[in-house]
Amino acid sequence: MTSNASDSTSLADAPLSTTPFPREDARGIARAFLPGHVLGNRYDYYYTLTKLRTDPLYPGVLQALRPTTAPVLDLGCGLGLLAHALRADGQSLSFTGVDIDADKIRRGRAVAARAGLSDVRLDVLDLGVGLPDHRGSVTILDVLQYLSPERQRELLGNVIAMLVPGARLVIRSGLADDTPRSRTTRITDRLANLAGWMQERAKSYPTADGLRSQLEGAGLQTTLRPLYGDTPFNNWLITGIRA
Ligand SMILES: C[S@@+](CC[C@H](N)C(=O)[O-])C[C@H]1O[C@@H](n2cnc3c(N)ncnc32)[C@H](O)[C@@H]1O
Repeated sequence: MTSNASDSTSLADAPLSTTPFPREDARGIARAFLPGHVLGNRYDYYYTLTKLRTDPLYPGVLQALRPTTAPVLDLGCGLGLLAHALRADGQSLSFTGVDIDADKIRRGRAVAARAGLSDVRLDVLDLGVGLPDHRGSVTILDVLQYLSPERQRELLGNVIAMLVPGARLVIRSGLADDTPRSRTTRITDRLANLAGWMQERAKSYPTADGLRSQLEGAGLQTTLRPLYGDTPFNNWLITGIRA
């Protein structure tokens, strides 16, 4: 699964991988989330397996991170699935994930320890309140919409300041526009919240223009590309490189 991309121009030039993991690769990663006991709860296993098999998120993010070995801070990391995908991809960069959901962090820590992932740390943190100290790359995957527009701007300003030369800011987000995809994204997030799958309620979706102007305004080499694959959502991958 690894590639030889080694410079910042290759990121913008290489076609973005927009297909989910092959079935067996997805199963290989999701297996870590099987319960320790045969009668244990398999919810996290089936959730991660379905996500990995249907959503091109992780192949796209792995591709964006391959050219750098800078430590990664994953904001709104959920169960820490990105750490498992990185290790399966042969990327050994230091990983710190934070999420407001203490129960997901507890389960994610247990799985990471059981899987023997090294240099992986998961902590509880509300992004509405603060950020950990960090220097390196930052990933924000399907999380921005849970913050107010003001907090999104402030958070992006703070994480841009964390990027070291060559490091990446990698965002996947639903974007606000007038497409049916955008409406489907909003409605699905609302249903996920009402059904209890997502404790937080989406507040606001960023726009392509708003993200581009903030990242380019901060001097980052910026690309915005669709990363929804065969899903009905309006999910884009936004990558900023500190030259
Ligand atoms: C759709 S999930 C994405 C999880 C993970 N990034 C992924 O892509 O698999 C959104 C995550 O954002 C987290 N989240 C929402 N609001 C947050 C906040 N204020 N601070 C930290 N995490 C938050 C949720 O708990 C949830 O785990």
